[in-house]
Amino acid sequence: MSSGSCIGISAMKPCCRILSSYKSPSLFGFSPTKFSDSMITGMLSRSGHHNSTRCHMYNTCNTQILGYIHEISANRRDFSVSDSNWGLYRSFSTSFGVNIGSFRPRIVSLVPHVASDIRNHSTSVDSHARDTSFEKIYIQNGLNVKPWVIDRIETDQSKLEEVYEDQSDVNVDNLKHLVENKVQREVSEIEKEAWKLLEDAVVTYCGNPVGTVAANDTADKQALNYDQVFIRDFVPSALAFLLNGEGEIVKNFLLHTLQLQSWEKTVDCYSPGQGLMPASFKVRAVPLDGGNETFEEVLDPDFGESAIGRVAPVDSGLWWIILLRAYGKLTGDYDLQDRVDVQTGIRLILKLCLTDGFDMFPSLLVTDGSCMIDRRMGIHGHPLEIQALFYSALRCSHEMLIVNDATKSLVAAVSNRLSALSFHMREYYWVDINKINEIYRYKTEEYSTDAVNKFNIYPEQIPSWLVDWISEEGGYFIGNLQPAHMDFRFFTLGNLWAIVSSLGTTKQNQGILNLIEAKWDDIIAQMPLKICYPALEGEEWRIITGCDPKNTPWSYHNGGSWPTLLWQFTLACIKMGRPDLAQKAVDSAEKRLSVDRWPEYYDTRNGRFIGKQSRLMQTWTIAGFLTSKMMLENPEKASLLFWEEDFELLQNCVCMLGKSGKRKCSRFAARSQFIV
Ligand code: GLC
Repeated sequence: MSSGSCIGISAMKPCCRILSSYKSPSLFGFSPTKFSDSMITGMLSRSGHHNSTRCHMYNTCNTQILGYIHEISANRRDFSVSDSNWGLYRSFSTSFGVNIGSFRPRIVSLVPHVASDIRNHSTSVDSHARDTSFEKIYIQNGLNVKPWVIDRIETDQSKLEEVYEDQSDVNVDNLKHLVENKVQREVSEIEKEAWKLLEDAVVTYCGNPVGTVAANDTADKQALNYDQVFIRDFVPSALAFLLNGEGEIVKNFLLHTLQLQSWEKTVDCYSPGQGLMPASFKVRAVPLDGGNETFEEVLDPDFGESAIGRVAPVDSGLWWIILLRAYGKLTGDYDLQDRVDVQTGIRLILKLCLTDGFDMFPSLLVTDGSCMIDRRMGIHGHPLEIQALFYSALRCSHEMLIVNDATKSLVAAVSNRLSALSFHMREYYWVDINKINEIYRYKTEEYSTDAVNKFNIYPEQIPSWLVDWISEEGGYFIGNLQPAHMDFRFFTLGNLWAIVSSLGTTKQNQGILNLIEAKWDDIIAQMPLKICYPALEGEEWRIITGCDPKNTPWSYHNGGSWPTLLWQFTLACIKMGRPDLAQKAVDSAEKRLSVDRWPEYYDTRNGRFIGKQSRLMQTWTIAGFLTSKMMLENPEKASLLFWEEDFELLQNCVCMLGKSGKRKCSRFAARSQFIV
């Protein structure tokens, strides 16, 4: 169906804005934030800084229930809502003429009118809607629209009360717990300091902890956006809290950021896709009624429209999914991921990633700076970091998605993509000394599906540093692959997540750690770990970074050392049975981090200097250190955060689903597939 024929709901506007005019605006326990750009006259409110700010218990903060989606079956695998419900619950009153303003609580039961259709051989998600229901609700743009039918409206008060009990979303008392639950075990003075700093970095929203600021250096007069809660930065904070037995802040974070998904923010009149998660958000206090005496807090997300370079936060949604799974694993609270709104959130993110485009490869196509490296660094196209996080998020989703008629095509698309992506990465991104020798002898200009040099890589592209650098031991996944282009730089985060998620084969994963060990002085150096190796210098720096003065050689994203990567290294080492390597790195970091006041990054080839423009009291440096420490002490808990090989997924090949079965599958002609 075309988007032009969409009717009904005025769309995926921010729920808060839609519902803010209603008196009882919360359906799933989270009430919307009354918000508009003009209202933001901006006053930072966060833990310890909001003496003058009073949280006004208004739409923004209270939790009331307007209704809920009644699950038809007790079997949780039998039923879940389709995406259209997302739009539906945010504004269904508009279509059905229910006066929400005077709405008495009652239970609305909805049955999905499923139009499930797995398109032949497509590994992406299709969008079809059948036009047969009597009352149809579509969300804006018609993407993946499924009609919904109101089955019945219940007014049973006892059911309603049950619902109220189930909807205790926000722990109102949890800042206290953060401190009380604190580490019962012996901790070093440095760890104690780190815990204190982490607590100081906590941001509250209406009294509840919802995240941590990126950096909390009170001496720094120019906060830029480091006073915001970044989705990616919060992950190590979240893990530190979770490993320490504190789940509420993480739950609050997951639910509040879910609310921000698809917020109506635009860059020059263009709105990002529905599933996009913001890069960061800020809690702002805005005066109520134009006065200066009372304030209400609002969450103000940034989808990249304020970010330097207007970079797209592609990794945010992927991290959100990864954290959601980690929360379930470490707390045992799986109810959160089963919630209707949370399931919908997962699906919106996935659909954004799985939508058909012009892609020829199963890897995600993104613009430069769409991840931790959020400035121009020549990582547009198919950068490793995004692929590794994408693979991890797909594996999480594969575990968390509730399977039913409405979701089965999505689940199939996830499985197919996992299989295709792992094949693609293992086959084409992996290099070791033999592979480089093979590339060195490549024939070029090959035509046909049987080409050996499929991407037409000219051997002259092999950089001179690599010829000497590549070790006899191990190998790694290259930074990027496109037609006639291999980026041979070693990017740490992507390689570590390839290990953690089993994107690589066991042999490849071991190979990455072997390479890091062999190249310790280059990748770990004096401060773990280099974000990438080597730095771009001279003409390359000029052309590829666009003369970025922050990304000069061996600084910041261009070969700087980022202590936050320590936790990901630790996790990868624990998985591969090499905690000794992680311990060595943690020990060397521990000697300097506190003395240096927890810098964001270090500069120089050996990581000897605190970075030129490095923030101090950088939260993910602090949290990454604590998380590494706790994982080394509790490897069994760490093991909940990584994945082993899934052989069933590997066998899954979409080509084999062809009706005739005669379709030629290039994977089976591949030279080295699945060397496990
Ligand atoms: C820088 C980093 C980015 C991080 C942000 C907040 O922009 O490049 O990865 O999320 O700072 O710490």
